[in-house]
Amino acid sequence: MPAFTTDVRDGIAVLTFDLPGEPVNKLTAGVKAEFEQAFSALLADPSVRAVILASGKPDTFIAGADIEEFTRLETPAQAEALSRGGQEMIARVEASPKPVVAAIHGACLGGGLELALACHWRIATDHPKTQLGLPEVQLGILPAAGGSVRLPRLIGLRAALDIILAGKTERAAKAFRLGIVDELVHPAILLDTARRAAGRLLRDGRPSRPPRGTGPAGWFLDRTPPGRRIVYAQARKGVLARTGGHYPAPLAALEAVEAGLEQGPRRGFETEHRRFGELAMGAVSRELVRIFFATTALKKDDGGSGARPLPVGVLGVVGTGFMGAGIAGTAVAQAAVEVRLRDAALDRVASGLKAARKLLDGRLERRRITRQEHQRLVALMGGTAGWEGFRRADLVIEAVFEDLDVKRKVLAEAEAGAPHAIFATNTSTIPIGRIAEGAGRPGRVLGMHFFSPVDRMPLLEVIPHAGTDPDAVATALAFGRRMGKTVIVVADRPGFWVNRILSPYLNEAGHLLAEGTPIEAIDAAMTRFGFPVGPVALLDEVGLDVGAKAGGVMHAAFGDRLRPAPVLARMLEAGRQGRKNGKGFYRYEGGKKAGPDPAVAGILGVQPRAAISAETIQQRLLYAMLNEAAMAMGEGVVRSARDGDMGAIFGIGYPPFRGGPLRTIDHLGATRVLDVLRGLENVYGARFTPAPALVEVGMRNGRFTDEG
Ligand code: 3HC
Repeated sequence: MPAFTTDVRDGIAVLTFDLPGEPVNKLTAGVKAEFEQAFSALLADPSVRAVILASGKPDTFIAGADIEEFTRLETPAQAEALSRGGQEMIARVEASPKPVVAAIHGACLGGGLELALACHWRIATDHPKTQLGLPEVQLGILPAAGGSVRLPRLIGLRAALDIILAGKTERAAKAFRLGIVDELVHPAILLDTARRAAGRLLRDGRPSRPPRGTGPAGWFLDRTPPGRRIVYAQARKGVLARTGGHYPAPLAALEAVEAGLEQGPRRGFETEHRRFGELAMGAVSRELVRIFFATTALKKDDGGSGARPLPVGVLGVVGTGFMGAGIAGTAVAQAAVEVRLRDAALDRVASGLKAARKLLDGRLERRRITRQEHQRLVALMGGTAGWEGFRRADLVIEAVFEDLDVKRKVLAEAEAGAPHAIFATNTSTIPIGRIAEGAGRPGRVLGMHFFSPVDRMPLLEVIPHAGTDPDAVATALAFGRRMGKTVIVVADRPGFWVNRILSPYLNEAGHLLAEGTPIEAIDAAMTRFGFPVGPVALLDEVGLDVGAKAGGVMHAAFGDRLRPAPVLARMLEAGRQGRKNGKGFYRYEGGKKAGPDPAVAGILGVQPRAAISAETIQQRLLYAMLNEAAMAMGEGVVRSARDGDMGAIFGIGYPPFRGGPLRTIDHLGATRVLDVLRGLENVYGARFTPAPALVEVGMRNGRFTDEG
């Protein structure tokens, strides 16, 4: 079956791209050859005067270059050739004597947008599935099929850098405002509008688009060489601050944009393919591409049983605190599901609804949803101090106070109030099996562990207990994904996965503090390693009371190995709870973090010690986490190293370019990790005793993740 079909009417050909046997259209080597053949035939056909490029897929226009092909590249020269080939194909479209109109519905990403940018007119549907963007830097590469050159020329330097350097994707309406697309239409009239546009282009010629850059400042910064020099310098500084120098792709993209604008398109294209050749073969891109494929694989996860998820039309949320409201608001915003929010007192229900609604308001303000959509979503939320409305609930998520008896009581009431619902408990420390004990329908009980703040944290842990039904697991997984989360299934062991591997890491930060290591030295060492925040700042964010409680649970479950350093207890005695009460390891001024608090040394009763090296700090903290990850993996807390690594990246912000903790062990080599751990064990004792799973992998010279 061909990937392209042609339908010519009244001199206008619709060239429809529908890659057989694939869920999305992507630009492969084979597609390129077919496209060139089909396109040349249209150019040669005298009955064809204009071409419309459309997609036959329901939700994708073109998802970009075939990322799988990247994994088979063996040399930079091959990668460079791949990019050059794409550029040439796209250049032929731009140079076509017959006008070409892109009729875009669905994802138009990477090479897909780059192809559209070479067309002479772009029409997009105003539909949530229509997203346009250049996500390349998120894969550790740069737009290398002409996008780094064409986008800045089309929409102005600053607007283009905003998209390219962050790997952003925009909704169609925003793309229209920016000038990426020329028209915005309802999907039903996409092709008709494209035909009319083709007719106009034939009649009036190609449009001349005025250069972008509004107002005197915009004119200066986008359109004059000295202004642009300022923009390049600032962008570079911004990228370095954001990436800590760990990600080469945005800098390479910046170089290509600059070359394209300052030295002309040819130099821009050359820079694109040269840098693509280097980056596609580099270690960072390899890791980021693995993460892309792991994310897509997780989208299909049903828990391994083959069970089908049940539909969730009505969600009940019990508990209207920060978590409950966050879950309710995120569920409505992302899954457009009807939500019933319950708490014991009406005033608490009202404040929960208000907080949930705030999330929707934020989306409206950021123009992520229309006013109409906002109204519709707000109307989907209702609250109660009883159990009204829960009878129809398909899923109930409970986020009440972290206490076993309270949770069991809520479960018993929910079983009566929501008789056919699956019951999910959002707990970070209580075993799900304990909560399910005494349940009327224990098979319908499981854990859904969200992270705070729910709307922003991308991970969800789904935790079946020994008796959870497979379809309940599949339903929780599917609903978590509808909420926009990356979801992993984890075992019902204390701390599950994320808090388990975080626990010794945070404890080690506590030990360092107790030795007098300066707060800023600890945090700076770990952000330099690539974490988004340091462990001490993280404790402040999470709340020192919450951290101490979780630490206590882990200590009780795993014994001395996970004994917390006494620093959190001291801080709590001094009334410090972290950011939430404006007093933690850091100072807070007007809600903003304002540097480490010098009073902390006094509270902890330590003498600030002379600087200890960043390498030592990194080693102690990192190896505590790596060892725990290996141990938990060995205990079957996660089903695969892939899940473990994804959990660490999306749950903790483990540096993506390092691929996750288990991947880091493989990169370092298990035997080397063992050696370092034994050295640390000699100095600091049994908390660094190597995990049995690590010893086993080391002995057979094995790995946790596959090669490549
Ligand atoms: N290459 C290879 N496979 C791709 C792909 C791509 N660009 N885009 C999607 N797929 C595959 C997925 O791996 C998945 O495969 P599977 O069914 O075998 O597991 C399948 O298509 C469906 O994808 P999703 O499950 O992700 O479907 P969704 O509907 O949830 O999302 C999407 C669709 C928005 C297109 C999303 O897949 C996506 O974001 N894709 C990646 C887009 C991207 O990064 N493009 C840039 C590529 S790099 C490039 O173009 C370089 C150029 O500048 C030279």
